[in-house]
Amino acid sequence: MEYQTVKGLLFRLDPESAHHLAQFFLELAGFIPPLLRGLERRFLVEREELTQTLFGREFRNPVGIAAGFDKDGTMVRSLHALGFGHVEVGTVTPKPQIGNPKPRLFRYPKYEAIQNAMGFNNDGAQVVAARLRRLYPAPFPIGVNIGKNKETPEEKSLDDYRLLIETFRDLADYLVVNISSPNTPGLRDLQNQQFIKELFTMASDLTEKPILLKIAPDMEPAQGIDLTATAVEAGAAGIIATNTSTDYSLLKGAREMGGISGKVIKEKSFALFDAIARELFGKTVLISVGGIDSPEEAYRRIRAGANLVQIYTAFIYGGPPLIREINSSLLEFLKRDGFATITEAIGADR
Ligand SMILES: Cc1cc2nc3c(=O)[nH]c(=O)nc-3n(C[C@H](O)[C@H](O)[C@H](O)COP(=O)(O)O)c2cc1C
Repeated sequence: MEYQTVKGLLFRLDPESAHHLAQFFLELAGFIPPLLRGLERRFLVEREELTQTLFGREFRNPVGIAAGFDKDGTMVRSLHALGFGHVEVGTVTPKPQIGNPKPRLFRYPKYEAIQNAMGFNNDGAQVVAARLRRLYPAPFPIGVNIGKNKETPEEKSLDDYRLLIETFRDLADYLVVNISSPNTPGLRDLQNQQFIKELFTMASDLTEKPILLKIAPDMEPAQGIDLTATAVEAGAAGIIATNTSTDYSLLKGAREMGGISGKVIKEKSFALFDAIARELFGKTVLISVGGIDSPEEAYRRIRAGANLVQIYTAFIYGGPPLIREINSSLLEFLKRDGFATITEAIGADR
């Protein structure tokens, strides 16, 4: 079946029901190897020229599914088969959470945007860890994105991250500290030098597993550079920029809640990534996410210094054919520009 047909059916449902339905089928597909092989043949592009070794693992293409699509780690195998070179699970919190009241997820098809105020709805660390124990290590890299519980007071935040790092350090190839979601009150306040220093100092005592920092797009370049440089100095293994935006002026008809994503945050997200890459390219692993919706945009991020890119919103609108198209086009762009491998293209514009 064509993705446009599937999308037509899914888009008749409200966004959250559509997500649950997709999740049901993708979870099921994960248990049917011949089906996974069929999806891989159709959508998965993994090639020598696109391969990089990061965190001791081979990423066989640079396009990953961003956090928040598979919050509970139920679709990991299927998402890889649909074309993603790596899968980032989460955000996972220590205790399970139901998230914010519904409705909390909105589509804006005209702008190919999404607005969400989910609030870290997830099964909690124990349940997600049990799932990953059956999966990890996988034939492709898996990341786990971690966040504090809503009810945990700010001064106890570090305890939540400690527990999460201890729970997932042996169940993923990399971890991501999320202090950039707009949907947990006070979470973005943790985007300060002192907390970041404490966090990564603690983390390096707990594990040698790479731990990355994911930041919001809503800050001045100077602040972004300060925070990410501090994180890297304190031991962060990489930076993921960016999460969703609370700049509602970017989306006509936006609600005053949550974070917006997709095409409408493309330039904002790129601008912050680019500023950070100017400082940190070559010093750490950089992952660009936010509004990537085409092969050209993915390539622009790579040339600006992104080792990897991640996609959420454009996957809702474009489905697995878009992921295949990005990877196949990247192969062509490399050839056209005289790069033997993706590593040569990464940071070519720096
Ligand atoms: C419905 C939804 C849920 C999300 N949940 C999370 C999350 O739990 N943790 C996180 O770090 N990012 C989350 N994100 C942010 C995405 O990972 C990504 O950073 C952001 O959407 C920008 O990329 P995009 O424009 O390709 O969607 C979520 C995004 C959406 C649309």
